[in-house]
Amino acid sequence: MKLLLTGAGGQLGREIINIAKRQSDVELHPLSRRELDVTNRSQVIRTVMTIKPDVIINASAYTSVDQAETDTEDALTVNAHGSQYIAEAAQEYNCKMCHISTDYVFDGRSTRPYEENDPVNPISVYGHSKALGEKYVRQICEKHFIVRTSWLYSAYGANFVHTMLRLGNDPGVESVRVVNDQTGSPTWTFDFACFLLQLIQTEYYGTYHVSNSGSTTWYEFTKEIFRLASIAKPVVPVQTSEFPRPARRPAYSVLGSKKIVEQGFQPLRSWNDALIAYFQSIKEVLPYEDC
Ligand SMILES: NC(=O)c1ccc[n+]([C@@H]2O[C@H](COP(=O)([O-])OP(=O)(O)OC[C@H]3O[C@@H](n4cnc5c(N)ncnc54)[C@H](OP(=O)(O)O)[C@@H]3O)[C@@H](O)[C@H]2O)c1
Repeated sequence: MKLLLTGAGGQLGREIINIAKRQSDVELHPLSRRELDVTNRSQVIRTVMTIKPDVIINASAYTSVDQAETDTEDALTVNAHGSQYIAEAAQEYNCKMCHISTDYVFDGRSTRPYEENDPVNPISVYGHSKALGEKYVRQICEKHFIVRTSWLYSAYGANFVHTMLRLGNDPGVESVRVVNDQTGSPTWTFDFACFLLQLIQTEYYGTYHVSNSGSTTWYEFTKEIFRLASIAKPVVPVQTSEFPRPARRPAYSVLGSKKIVEQGFQPLRSWNDALIAYFQSIKEVLPYEDC
């Protein structure tokens, strides 16, 4: 399987590379932003025409949720139009497209896990730009997988786990204040990427929700990070209203994974087990053979 990966320099992109390069049936073409700018339509078409992939995974995105509120045009250009151009190229050259999306397409007012066909209603520019990207992919590319995930962390780049470990280990910080009224499902990129590499082998096209199982708040998640990292620093629960940020976040964005189970896939393990495995993996050799 010839796999073209966009956004290869991001945290998910780097995880996909680590796993895919160990799979002998995958010929991987990972392209970072420098190598393929997805907002350059002719470059996208030319690249797909030259590589002739069987599948494209679009892991590129504008992901600065707060910055997007003022940088609206850039967020829309990458997340909506970049996705559109990739979908056009995939459709033109008859390849599958696996497009990554987010729990932030929902408004967070649900009281039960979101299902794949629940209506989207983003409350931030980032969420809006991602929802628009999904719409283009759905309209343009017949062989599409749209996979929404949530609260990603990895061994690479900036993410919540790294931020908390930095604050936890900073002697200048006495306690860490973390919001306790946003509920979601933290997801390790390793588990998510393993799932994606299975899904793209199939023809089970459509929209999926894929996160580590169970749910928690950022506050409870931080307590578990500190416990596993043996950090004794106090974690103080706060309300979102006490922690003003430019972009609104959904109060509840748990993604129900009914559809992947219906298609015969295993749901991802619990977020607690994934976090334990993540901490083990950064101490030991990563468990890529288990994928
Ligand atoms: N992070 C999360 O918590 C989370 C949660 C749910 C869903 N997601 C989704 O998961 C996917 C992967 O996110 P991530 O966490 O891996 O984000 P990330 O680490 O920010 O990676 C995104 C990558 O896209 C690249 N990129 C930005 N603009 C580009 C362009 N014009 N052309 C090509 N590449 C471009 C970025 O390059 P530069 O670094 O050079 O800008 C970066 O390498 C995204 O679709 C995101 O919306 C993420």
